[in-house]
Amino acid sequence: MNLPHFIHNGHDQLPEIQILVGDNRQLLALLPAESIQCCITSPPYWGLRDYDHPDQIGAEPAPDLYVQNLVEVFRAVRRVLRKDGTLWLNVGDGYARNGGTGNCGPNAIVGNTKKMIQRRNCKVPTCWGLKDRDLMGLPWRVAFALQADGWVLRSRITWLKKTAMPESVKNRPTSCTEEIFFMARMPNYYYDPDGVREPTGANLRNCWVLGPDISGAGHPAAYPRELVRRCILLGSRPRDTILDPFGGSGTTGEVARTLDRKAILIELNPQYAEFGRERMRHAEQKELWV
Ligand SMILES: C[S@@+](CC[C@H](N)C(=O)[O-])C[C@H]1O[C@@H](n2cnc3c(N)ncnc32)[C@H](O)[C@@H]1O
Repeated sequence: MNLPHFIHNGHDQLPEIQILVGDNRQLLALLPAESIQCCITSPPYWGLRDYDHPDQIGAEPAPDLYVQNLVEVFRAVRRVLRKDGTLWLNVGDGYARNGGTGNCGPNAIVGNTKKMIQRRNCKVPTCWGLKDRDLMGLPWRVAFALQADGWVLRSRITWLKKTAMPESVKNRPTSCTEEIFFMARMPNYYYDPDGVREPTGANLRNCWVLGPDISGAGHPAAYPRELVRRCILLGSRPRDTILDPFGGSGTTGEVARTLDRKAILIELNPQYAEFGRERMRHAEQKELWV
């Protein structure tokens, strides 16, 4: 196996924010056991975007294989989590479709120049009894599979998007939510209820209304920094290490840095890793956009 390629923020010492470029299923095995307090991450949706790499997760021929791959990744994450460590997992859903609109197939060019996989718009997968137009329920399928693999499922947080992506549908409501699952390695885990509270001072609720955030605009699927800020403050202490095995444009690393946490990010596509490195350079202590 090739040694990971470390990108860091220009210091000679061990970097505080490390971006490892490669397949997380290989690179996670190189990290020391029980060295991470909190994993915050957002894997690719199944069958939606093409991240231009043969080893990408999300391009499996069927969604049940996607679930299996995620179980494998998060089993490796569990090994590196401290005993009181937690996982904050944002997973997207999708519809099973026969035909659908637009181009079909693994190399279809859709919209501008971005390649889309769009398998789910081509043929209904032959698993789970799916039918044309079925919502696949992928977030919960992933959550249940992780639960069966040993994770303690503690909360389902609904991320309510202030600005929802427009959809050209007339036979169902437009989707404007995503799931964030809060899971623990063991039944007793670190959680700071004072890390983030409701404006009234009450315990934080599990519906987070978050606006868009242009900071990750070099990546098609970056999540908002405020989402990461909440997970970090609830799930870790200063100087703890945060892990994102699907690092993308480096949102998790940027927020970790502003909150005095260390971070390890893993990203398959070197271009996104480079974009993340740029963001680390410019990360400053500044108010995040809610
Ligand atoms: C939804 S994006 C993450 C976006 C990130 N949260 C951000 O804010 O920029 C998922 C990322 O996972 C990466 N990826 C897919 N398969 C991977 C694998 N096997 N190992 C590491 N990264 C992978 C993709 O290249 C993509 O950038």
